[in-house]
Amino acid sequence: MAFHFQRRRLHYYHRFRFLLPLISAISGTLLILFALLLVLAPSPSPLDVNHLHQPRHQHSSSSFNVGVDDDAIGVPVFRVPSRGGRSDRDIWTSRNSNFYYGCSNATHKFPNVDEITSPNKYLAIATSGGLNQQRTGITDAVVAARILNASLVVPKLDQKSFWKDASNFSEIFDVDWFISFLSKDVKIIKQLPRRGKGGKTWTPSTMRVPRKCSERCYQNRVLPVLLKRHAVQLNKFDYRLANKLSTDLQKLRCRVNYHALKFTDPIQKMAKKLVHRMRMRSKHYIALHLRYEPDMLAFSGCYYGGGDKERKELGAIRRRWKTLHISNPDKPRRHGRCPLTPEEVGLMLRALGYGSDVHIYVASGEVYGGEETLAPLKALFPNFYSKDTIATKEELEPFYSFSSRMAALDFIVCDESDVFVTNNNGNMAKILAGRRRYFGHKPTIRPNAKKLYRLFLSKENMTWGAFASSVRTYQRGFMGEPNEVRPGRGSFHENPHTCICEDSQAKVKRDVGPRKYGKGINETRRDEVESDAQNVEDDPEWPDTDEDEDQSGPLDNDMFNRTGVDYDAVSSEEPELEEMLSD
Ligand SMILES: *[C@@H]1O[C@H](CO)[C@@H](O)[C@H](O)[C@H]1NC(C)=O
Ligand SMILES: *[C@@H]1O[C@H](CO)[C@@H](O)[C@H](O)[C@H]1NC(C)=O
Ligand SMILES: *[C@@H]1O[C@H](CO)[C@@H](O)[C@H](O)[C@H]1NC(C)=O
Ligand SMILES: *[C@@H]1O[C@H](CO)[C@@H](O)[C@H](O)[C@H]1NC(C)=O
Ligand SMILES: *[C@@H]1O[C@H](CO)[C@@H](O)[C@H](O)[C@H]1NC(C)=O
Ligand SMILES: *[C@@H]1O[C@H](CO)[C@@H](O)[C@H](O)[C@H]1NC(C)=O
Repeated sequence: MAFHFQRRRLHYYHRFRFLLPLISAISGTLLILFALLLVLAPSPSPLDVNHLHQPRHQHSSSSFNVGVDDDAIGVPVFRVPSRGGRSDRDIWTSRNSNFYYGCSNATHKFPNVDEITSPNKYLAIATSGGLNQQRTGITDAVVAARILNASLVVPKLDQKSFWKDASNFSEIFDVDWFISFLSKDVKIIKQLPRRGKGGKTWTPSTMRVPRKCSERCYQNRVLPVLLKRHAVQLNKFDYRLANKLSTDLQKLRCRVNYHALKFTDPIQKMAKKLVHRMRMRSKHYIALHLRYEPDMLAFSGCYYGGGDKERKELGAIRRRWKTLHISNPDKPRRHGRCPLTPEEVGLMLRALGYGSDVHIYVASGEVYGGEETLAPLKALFPNFYSKDTIATKEELEPFYSFSSRMAALDFIVCDESDVFVTNNNGNMAKILAGRRRYFGHKPTIRPNAKKLYRLFLSKENMTWGAFASSVRTYQRGFMGEPNEVRPGRGSFHENPHTCICEDSQAKVKRDVGPRKYGKGINETRRDEVESDAQNVEDDPEWPDTDEDEDQSGPLDNDMFNRTGVDYDAVSSEEPELEEMLSD
């Protein structure tokens, strides 16, 4: 801990090195003032008097000395304030977000569908996994059909995954809108046509393509079969298209994902009601996607602090999955692969400036430990809601037995939220993160679990002020702000950089700005603003890159060797398990 603190200081030191002469000039004066203050003020007060009392361990007095708000006897006090206490940042919007906008229109070089679609070439796909994993498959399928100059058959949804939802495409998505929105890009048909008049329908030849198959990969592997057999069905279609594609294909991806895929009216209507009910209660709300199901925790291999009871229960689940061999629970934690507990999410949010008056919508499945696990989060955020508390049983009745429709409701409520936060890095977190960037960089908080875990472990030895300040430092680059991740970093679905454009006029205005900077200085200033959000020392770790793409320098190579906060990356021989974990 102490080491951490030192390092952070050094970091700051480094950043403001250029101010040193000034600082030393003033410091003498300040010292005198400070001495005066020390005499006058008895002890610096903690952040807030109106605090929550957290159970806290008693430590014998130690030499440990972190910040200014220590107890008089030198034992740090971890007292969680009820107010967020942020005045330096608007907690409901991303800085500089109005200088960027989503841009997914085709360029003039992109031929119209009629010029490229060949007759008698039909591509069908069967998606795989939960709703959001399937969404990536549908998006990529449109692009794959475009690459192959084929017509696309409306995708088949996975009805047999872990999530077991019998809904078909048109029961989840507005199929006519899907077809018409993309009518200039790809010809989409509801079913395979007959061969000639009165003939039989085509029987597609089924195959699978490798993960992250590139444009050339489609041409080499799928095209020959398509030319020969006319109809091909690609099975288990998820993440089967490379991250890196030409600009126009990436923009097509965004048109599909952000415009063509619209949930059906009944889903939208119900979701709008939920959003409306949240907004009736307060101007702003946070949506939390909380994944904390027993199976998921068991699979993570992490220890969540529940003692022998937890070890026994999660151990029993682990034994059901024969291919799981997890020995050392510290390892996934060090790698940032343990989802945050509800309490940890609450503490992180408070540290980031969200007070107890904030309203929070929680989208979650079964929570391991139930109410007991949720209690600390509810104590931090008493205005706590979920589908079940803001809608009636009757209203939810048409959705209950369809996991994808339930997931769609949460998707919309989370998407519409002012701030979206997750405790995990599954498909929903990624897709919403990308979508929210595209639609104006709405704040999207994804925990930097790899850094935060040590902080959580040692919080009892810290003051709240020191804790909160470290959380804020570690979370830089994980807040959904513009430019916080480099183009090409992460999967395209979470970082759709090709579809985010800069508003040059607004930018000029900003650069001129209210304050005047001399020539040359404003250039530096602008760079500063842009890289400000990036966590330079601690770049977000996005493990999901294309093995077949050489986009990485030595630094990136190092990053991608490690496995990150990604359940998708974990491959298991039990497909069900993989599916359960990924969405
Ligand atoms: C994209 O195209 C649509 C329809 O043609 C048009 O209304 C819109 O302004 C375009 N957007 C941009 C950013 O050019
Ligand atoms: C698709 O059509 C375009 C334009 O006719 C052509 O340049 C391209 O080679 C075709 N690609 C395939 C895979 O047939
Ligand atoms: C989808 O399911 C609905 C209801 O079961 C059915 O009416 C419809 O024909 C199905 N659509 C397709 C394309 O299978
Ligand atoms: C707190 O500090 C004490 C003394 O340095 C140490 O023994 C103890 O393990 C620390 N506790 C935590 C939770 O880090
Ligand atoms: C700095 O801003 C002024 C306008 O205030 C502009 O004319 C000038 O070109 C800018 N300088 C640089 C280096 O961008
Ligand atoms: C990363 O992987 C490459 C190739 O597998 C290896 O040469 C390199 O040493 C690894 N780097 C680290 C930091 O593990």
